[in-house]
Amino acid sequence: MTRIVILTGAGVSAESGLGTFRDKGGLWTRYDLSEVATPGGFARNPALVHEFYNARRANALDAAPNAAHRALARLQGARAGVTLVTQNIDDLHERGGAREVIHMHGQITRALCAACGARWEAPRAMHPADACPGCAARATRPDIVWFGEVPYHMERIADALAACDLFVAIGTSGEVYPAAGFVEEAAGFGAETLEINLDPSAPGRFDRVIRGPATEAVPAWVAEVLGG
Ligand code: APR
Repeated sequence: MTRIVILTGAGVSAESGLGTFRDKGGLWTRYDLSEVATPGGFARNPALVHEFYNARRANALDAAPNAAHRALARLQGARAGVTLVTQNIDDLHERGGAREVIHMHGQITRALCAACGARWEAPRAMHPADACPGCAARATRPDIVWFGEVPYHMERIADALAACDLFVAIGTSGEVYPAAGFVEEAAGFGAETLEINLDPSAPGRFDRVIRGPATEAVPAWVAEVLGG
């Protein structure tokens, strides 16, 4: 059985209307990430950070999964050995039918207590005065991995990369580590590597590149893998 590790980025949700970060007009061209996506930014101005993620949570909750999300769920359902890792914080993979999704940057639908570590389903809008349902501390934050923090599930991801036969990066610029290093890590263990991207990241990084919008290129690739 061919073991496949798939890493998705913002490009897989772009056609669902969710913005990417580094494309023209992307989030980091409009916001200073040090203010809204770092622990220091949250300590300085929790209200601004909650406002930023409340808007992203509303967009994500109001968005619909697209054909790329559904195709990856079809692949996961049709064969064993598919590990789906995402850098995205939206839940479109799950709402597109994916059974198991490894969210290495956390989830916009989850809240975290910075005091006791409790996690729970986030309300549509969070505010600095919200109290933790566990310890009652007013230290609630979105359950998101910010710059300078350690991504989630890294051991599980490393094990999957070491054992995979094919690594596929979909809709990611490959600019943020550790995710950006997964292609070299998988190749180092002998895996074939494939990039599916509207605007491929860097020539020569992947064995194969499929250029196109995710909603067309991903279903076509999945059909190729499943033989129709
Ligand atoms: N179909 C396929 N790919 C697309 C599409 C599309 N319709 N639209 C955009 N893309 C691709 C772009 O070509 C680009 O390579 O999606 C990628 C988006 O890149 P980024 O905006 O850098 O997003 P991403 O790679 O997911 O960022 C990684 O950076 O800021 C952090 O935590 C954040 O998880 C994020 C991480």
